[in-house]
Formats: sequence, C-alpha cells, structure tokens
Amino acid sequence: MRRTLLVLSAILLACFGVASAQQGSTPKKPDSGEPQMTPDDAAKKNPIAPTPEGLAEARKLYGYHCAMCHNKNGDGKGDLAVEMKLDLHDWRDSSSIEKMTDGELFFIVSNGKGKMLGGEGDRTPEKVRWNLVNLVRSFGKKGVGD
Ligand code: HEC
Repeated sequence: MRRTLLVLSAILLACFGVASAQQGSTPKKPDSGEPQMTPDDAAKKNPIAPTPEGLAEARKLYGYHCAMCHNKNGDGKGDLAVEMKLDLHDWRDSSSIEKMTDGELFFIVSNGKGKMLGGEGDRTPEKVRWNLVNLVRSFGKKGVGD
C-alpha cells in the first residue's frame, strides 16, 4: 500500500511538473493588453502586389496617420517622433527592416506596437493595410516613394 501511494504521488508530482512547465511557456498577456503576434501572423504573405494606384492610396493615408512619426520619406524623423524622442528605423535603408516579414509589418500596421498606439486595424480595410506594407518597403527601393 505504502509503495502504491509513493508511486502515485511520484506520478502526480511529475504531472504537476509538466503542467507548470507548460504554463511557464505560454505567452503571458502583457499588462498593456497589447495583442500578441503569433507565428501565423508573422508567416503571412502579402497578397497585394504593389501597384501605382495601391501605393498612391496608401500614401494618402500615410500622410495623415503615419508621417508625423515615420516622416514623409520614411526616415523616422517626423515632428511627433522627434518630440516623443522615438528612435525609429530609417526605412530608406531597406536593411533596417529586411529581417521583418511582411506578416510582421502588417501586424504592426494593424495593431500598433509599444509607443505606436492602436494601429489601423479598426479603421482601414485589410487591402489598404497591405498596401501600407508595400509603401513602407518602397521607401528602401531607389527611385520609388520619394
Ligand atoms: C506615434 C508615432 C507613430 C505613428 C503615428 C505611427 N508609428 Fe509606426 N512605429 C512607431 C514606433 C515607436 C514603432 C516601433 C515599435 C517597436 O518596435 O516598439 C513603429 C513601428 C512600425 C513598423 C514596424 C517596422 C519598424 O520600423 O519597426 C511599421 C511597419 C510601422 N510602424 C508602420 C506605421 C504606419 C503604416 C503608420 C500609419 C498608419 C504608423 N506606423 C504610425 C511609431 C509610430
């Protein structure tokens, strides 16, 4: 009987160990309540090919909602960014964001991140958000976007 109890408690302990280890690895919601990017989000491919029309539409919105921080030319030195002392990527150098996937950029455009609050998810159609990703990438290509 003693033995069985011992074995049982050993099994129970092992189970708890696994359970708490799993709990430790699940991403915790940060205090800010910011949405968390999943691997699926990051793996998304841009379904919208860049076209002059699509980029023009995105550029218009960019002028109202993004340029105060990321600046008209994408160098990250917009008035608000300077005021807030934000250290933003200079997108004119495409290597600044080449390690980020389109899915990651799209997620940030849609949900914001850190001091970039909210994002466009609630107010801008998905297609235009993908075009914003195209626009952001275009700053790093010579002769486009300036
Ligand atoms: C209040 C200033 C602010 C505004 C307005 C803003 N952003 Fe950002 N943006 C940031 C900051 C800060 C980051 C870096 C966030 C981080 O990594 O913590 C960022 C990051 C990004 C990124 C990820 C790539 C990178 O360089 O880190 C993209 C893409 C982006 N912004 C696009 C946009 C678009 C498109 C708009 C307009 C719809 C916009 N942002 C409006 C501040 C801003």
